[in-house]
Amino acid sequence: MRREITVTAPVNIAVIKYWGKRDVKLNLPTNSSLSVTLSQDEMCSKTTVSVDKSYTKDTLVLNGEENEINGRLVNVLNVMRESTTESEIKDLHVRIESTNNFPTAAGLASSASGFAALVYGLGKIFVPSYTNSQLSTIARQGSGSACRSLFGGFVAWNKGEKLDGSDSSAVEIAPQSHWDDLDALICVVSANKKAVASTAGMQRTVETSPYLQHRADNVVPKRMDDIIDAIKSKDFDKFADITMMDSNSFHASCLDTHPPIFYLTDVSRAIINVVHALNNAMGRHVAAYTFDAGPNAVLYVQRKDKELVLSIINSLFGPCEGVECNSLDNILRRYNIDADL
Ligand code: DP6
Repeated sequence: MRREITVTAPVNIAVIKYWGKRDVKLNLPTNSSLSVTLSQDEMCSKTTVSVDKSYTKDTLVLNGEENEINGRLVNVLNVMRESTTESEIKDLHVRIESTNNFPTAAGLASSASGFAALVYGLGKIFVPSYTNSQLSTIARQGSGSACRSLFGGFVAWNKGEKLDGSDSSAVEIAPQSHWDDLDALICVVSANKKAVASTAGMQRTVETSPYLQHRADNVVPKRMDDIIDAIKSKDFDKFADITMMDSNSFHASCLDTHPPIFYLTDVSRAIINVVHALNNAMGRHVAAYTFDAGPNAVLYVQRKDKELVLSIINSLFGPCEGVECNSLDNILRRYNIDADL
């Protein structure tokens, strides 16, 4: 008995950030979040999942190296094994081989695409009838942001209300084709592993930051409604403002953590200043920045402004060793910005 499948899953970059868990075991978030799924052309996780009667243990090989199977992966495997109706598969061991074509754990959403690919692959083997929405609740238990990578385009992760987490799943707000001249420029400030991993960082924030609860109760709910409106009406000015404000709100909660967590560097802050100066000079929004748990910037731009923004970033932070993605979906331009500022 053997089954094998190879899948790829995309990265997503949140514009309303998930930060904080109300239930660590089920990985339920403190607040809802919303992201844009990037094209898989340049950034994706590719995962081969197999089950075979000859396997004597579960194995995980990440970027060519055998890794320990941690608790979250065990949880995901357990859910799959408990849900399958095929008794001959239930007790088989799995082998998972996964590679990323971008820096792992550098605040570039590697756990999102990694767990999304894994859960999708496991789902096809153990419970082929699962919908993407059901798979998203399982991916969430691997890594919260992974639940959003089960869908393309603009994706909301509703925090849900139920104690068992069954309504804490992702939903597509609009397909990528709805706003296909929106591009993402990835500016790699540093490809090093992040100093404080997201899971540990957000727990520290939950335990020590008074601002986080205010953000969850009073800031994010309205922003979710407003950014969904902005996406539906393709209002870039509104989309950009909310995106930048929410990135800053998330990093403010990191600063409000005790001891504080610093993900942004001087180069990140210089990018923030450049974007505001540029938007100001143009009298409209030409770019919106957002930063995850690391110093790397993602700039959302409309395609008509892409060359302008690229040339400014190049001239200030170059030389650019980037490659430009020719896909029509999303753009990725990767920089190695080590500029001294
Ligand atoms: C800053 O999804 O990596 O990128 O659920 O603990 O695995 P875990 O956290 P993870 O956190 C992502 C945090 C973020 C914001 C976001 O993607 O919404």
